[in-house]
Amino acid sequence: MHDPAVLRSMHRARFQADPAIFVAPGRVNLIGEHTDYAEGFVMPAAINFATLAAISPRSDGKIVLYSENYGEEKTFDASALPPKGSQHWSDYPLGVAHILAGEGHKLPGCSVSLWGDVPLGSGLSSSAALEVASALAFLSLMDASYPGPVLARLCQRAENEYVGANCGIMDQFISANGQENHALLLDCRDLSYKLAPIPDHVALVIANTMVKHSVSGGDYPTRRRESEAACAVIASHRSGVPFLRDATLEDLEKWGHEMEPKSYLRAKHVISENLRTVAACDALLRGDMKELGRLMGEAHVSYSRDFEGSCVEADTMVALAQDLPGLIGARLTGGGFGGCTINLVEQAEAAAFAEALGARYAAQTGIVPEIHICHASAGAHRLE
Ligand code: GLA
Repeated sequence: MHDPAVLRSMHRARFQADPAIFVAPGRVNLIGEHTDYAEGFVMPAAINFATLAAISPRSDGKIVLYSENYGEEKTFDASALPPKGSQHWSDYPLGVAHILAGEGHKLPGCSVSLWGDVPLGSGLSSSAALEVASALAFLSLMDASYPGPVLARLCQRAENEYVGANCGIMDQFISANGQENHALLLDCRDLSYKLAPIPDHVALVIANTMVKHSVSGGDYPTRRRESEAACAVIASHRSGVPFLRDATLEDLEKWGHEMEPKSYLRAKHVISENLRTVAACDALLRGDMKELGRLMGEAHVSYSRDFEGSCVEADTMVALAQDLPGLIGARLTGGGFGGCTINLVEQAEAAAFAEALGARYAAQTGIVPEIHICHASAGAHRLE
């Protein structure tokens, strides 16, 4: 994570005011992909890459946003925010401001400096980190706060309604509610969750294929539509199946022939992934790393073959990890079509694993990957 003291002095120099500073982490999902918008289960962890937001009030009624990552400053009228996003980094904080305004919060003028190290477009939820950090910063100026799950929902709405990306709740939820050294099994229906400690001897090795991924690109919404179409077929026969969360593999066998072949495969992934995710949390809780790794492997095959959410590079990264010493389990993480793989690796082997995987991937694909040894981190909070 970037040094908050550096952000503080940057903010002071630019805006001549002493800021309050907030941090919100990115995330890695251990298992449970494209299940969140089907009201199913996911098991992410917050990671030690994050966005920092420094904020101070101003008296001219302007919202001035500065991004250190983009080296750009944008000014808006607090009382006349643009009604929709414009495919710009400022959409994320503005979207949050817009949703908070809709909830009755009158955002005063403020200066905000943003600085993050979550790799962009890598499936590690840089957008959610930016939204959640901005939300905490804005709320602090109004002396308001929300419980973590509510905050996550507001930030998801910013992304759905303002940015225009049709994502589920997972990323915002874990950024707001993550816990140090824990993964979190989230029931995306009622937002209840269970924390599962990640043992000290296990490292999260995140391997970036360097293939860019985007939730607002075409593939994510297409997959979502295809899986929802399968759900509609099941729902036409059996009531009480508003989401694939409610469907069973038996439903799929019974009525799958009425579905488009692609929809059938997408639903097969989502329904089986929900079962795997709950089983993976059980395995983690009882310390059965072998079973957890097996489920992650199965999840990758399902994500790649049935959901067709992977890409050659991610499949290669997962395949190349298989016989490296220390591997517990590997799979593509996040929205798909690129981004990063998550490798659970024995801590003692993690450095050698990362080096060997990087070398193998570069030799095979000609792409030099970025490989990070991470740990599960705390959710969003104020930094003193
Ligand atoms: C992206 C979305 C999430 C979730 C994942 C896939 O990260 O933002 O809501 O749907 O993809 O599991």
